[in-house]
Amino acid sequence: MSKRVLLVIGGGIAAYKSLDLIRRLKETGAAVRVVMTEAAQRFVTPLAAGALVGERVFTDLFDQTQEFDVGHIRLARECDLIVVAPATADLMAKAANGLANDLASAVLLATDKPVLMAPAMNPRMWANAATQRNFARLQADGLSFVGPNEGEMAERGERGVGRMAEPEEIRDAALALLNDGPLKGKRALVTAGPTIEAIDPVRFLSNRSSGRQGYAIAAALAELGADVTLVSGPTNLAAPPGVKRVGVESAREMLAASEAALPLDVAVMVAAVADWRPAQAADEKLKKDKAGLPAISLAENPDILATLSKPGKKRPKLVIGFAAETENVEEHARAKIARKGCDWIVANDVSGDVMGGAENQVLLIKTDGAEAWPRMAKDAVARKLAAEIAAALSSKPRRRS
Ligand code: CTP
Repeated sequence: MSKRVLLVIGGGIAAYKSLDLIRRLKETGAAVRVVMTEAAQRFVTPLAAGALVGERVFTDLFDQTQEFDVGHIRLARECDLIVVAPATADLMAKAANGLANDLASAVLLATDKPVLMAPAMNPRMWANAATQRNFARLQADGLSFVGPNEGEMAERGERGVGRMAEPEEIRDAALALLNDGPLKGKRALVTAGPTIEAIDPVRFLSNRSSGRQGYAIAAALAELGADVTLVSGPTNLAAPPGVKRVGVESAREMLAASEAALPLDVAVMVAAVADWRPAQAADEKLKKDKAGLPAISLAENPDILATLSKPGKKRPKLVIGFAAETENVEEHARAKIARKGCDWIVANDVSGDVMGGAENQVLLIKTDGAEAWPRMAKDAVARKLAAEIAAALSSKPRRRS
């Protein structure tokens, strides 16, 4: 990869991990330039960062040599991505409000490139209303985020959300934004979350899907460089870095948004699509003073997985469905492949306590075999599936029509 990353190191104890991040970014072939805030230099030295990037580190907005040599405008423009790690509460506040009184913040204000922030701070600073306001504002402004994670803090005995994401996670999120990796140039669709089906303007039928597994798969595909559209029912999750999220409500909207994402190399249908919808959604709120209970008759929703799997020129090269099973997992999943016409099924064994949890136990079923994966975190399932997809799409093309 010949991509240029500008790494802005903020002042926090996590700054030492940014030295490792430099190394990991360079391993991908990226050219890395570094800007450090004044506070960052209290934690790691420009000499250490400079030795790792192999060139001087930029620190001062008002230093004549630095400013006339490269200058904040060139720093802001001569890159493909800006990564802010650690993104302190202070740097986030400045960026959210357009302040530019030092080199790091001036670069963030002057850039028109994608920006990825890896926040790191004490959990109370993270939870503070001001920080949350700035976080929401920055997301609305189009910046991407990785972390913060939950865990031990530098302060003894403190735990909570505020730990900077690990260097590998930041690197992967950066690659997703740079659109680079084995799935570069491949178009992927992921459906995720529940659908909601209107009964009247204020009531609906839905289910308890959190969307976590689907969002993790969208993130993992983007990390491998795919161009990912995530068609999502209502969830509480933020779009992963580099992923185009299309919000929908009903199954019919999800189908339309999925078809709009064609042509595709791979489609992964993870959404918990409502099987039925009220046959007629009332235009006005149903009143309870009407005689008797309202009768809600149901109509069947379109099957998005089956629709996208239909043979034809537009069919994605690889179509993957999910299935929740409690018994005879492989047999039922094979029947589902045949019924829906998809290529692979990721079968969840939900006989245990997988539903709604952070872990998943799956069986990957392909036309020519089945593989039981050990129980692992949903993120790990997502990465392993993304790697399988990359391998399948890079092997010789197979024709179906
Ligand atoms: N699916 C879909 N559109 C629907 C229903 C399901 O795209 N209207 C997709 C889901 O995203 C998932 C797979 O189909 O990939 C699940 O199939 P489904 O028939 O709903 O199976 P289960 O939920 O496992 O239930 P059952 O065993 O009762 O068929």
